[in-house]
Amino acid sequence: MGKEKHDRRPTAKSKLMIPLLNLKQRLVVPVKKLISILHRKGRRLDWYNLRSTEPIARKFGFYRGEPIDRYYINRFLLKNRRFIQGRILEVANDGYSKKFAINARSIDILHVNSKNPKATIVADLTKGDNLPRDAFDCFICTQTLQFIYNLSAAVQGIYQILGRGGVVLLTVPGIAQISREDNGRWGDYWRFTEASLLKLFSEVFGKENVHVESYGNVLSSIAFLEGLCVAELTPQELDHHDSDYQMLLTVVARKAFDGPPHV
Ligand SMILES: C[S@@+](CC[C@H](N)C(=O)[O-])C[C@H]1O[C@@H](n2cnc3c(N)ncnc32)[C@H](O)[C@@H]1O
Repeated sequence: MGKEKHDRRPTAKSKLMIPLLNLKQRLVVPVKKLISILHRKGRRLDWYNLRSTEPIARKFGFYRGEPIDRYYINRFLLKNRRFIQGRILEVANDGYSKKFAINARSIDILHVNSKNPKATIVADLTKGDNLPRDAFDCFICTQTLQFIYNLSAAVQGIYQILGRGGVVLLTVPGIAQISREDNGRWGDYWRFTEASLLKLFSEVFGKENVHVESYGNVLSSIAFLEGLCVAELTPQELDHHDSDYQMLLTVVARKAFDGPPHV
């Protein structure tokens, strides 16, 4: 019988070639990466259109698409959605509660003043006398702490409103422009690091009840500062973590069942 037309049995030559091809494939990416690193670390720098004291877009890239910090906030809340249940409180609106809650008994909205018609609780996080006590299983406190000057009073307020075993899911900026709108309303005071957040929350919740993480890298930080949006980076570029470039910081802190009643 003659040789089959589509016989793909490996010949001696191809048996030798396959490992060589695999080796080539495995080398191509690292070599390309190495060339790019050497090129970038060399003296010649291509600025393309980045050499400007004006950002490409202002307002965190809202007008181009989804701001990059929101990508990380969504990732963080998705990862911790098991805590978003029972009596839930969120700052300013109920968007994240509705998106991520797995078993909501109630959803309340906290606002510092009465100008927000959606608010069900109007209170200042730094003023314990006006805040509910032991009232919530989960507090979604995104992008708020940077606008409160008295940080330790605010963390004590967060502790106060949580019930025993309740959890706060909090995010703050590490590398970010000033929010002009918020700066005009309540003041934009702080940018954070993993180290500052760990100390701040450990002093009130106890170190063993606090977990701090960061998101971002040099590329996503630059893109965020330039006002680029999520669609302009690849998922690999967004998800790469470099702890020297803490663009967004997150805290999961639990009020212990046997911790102090109120601070
Ligand atoms: C940009 S919004 C953040 C909430 C929003 N859900 C988000 O993810 O962007 C800033 C919020 O900070 C709140 N805020 C400012 N100072 C406050 C204070 N002393 N106590 C409680 N909330 C405060 C304001 O009510 C405002 O809703």
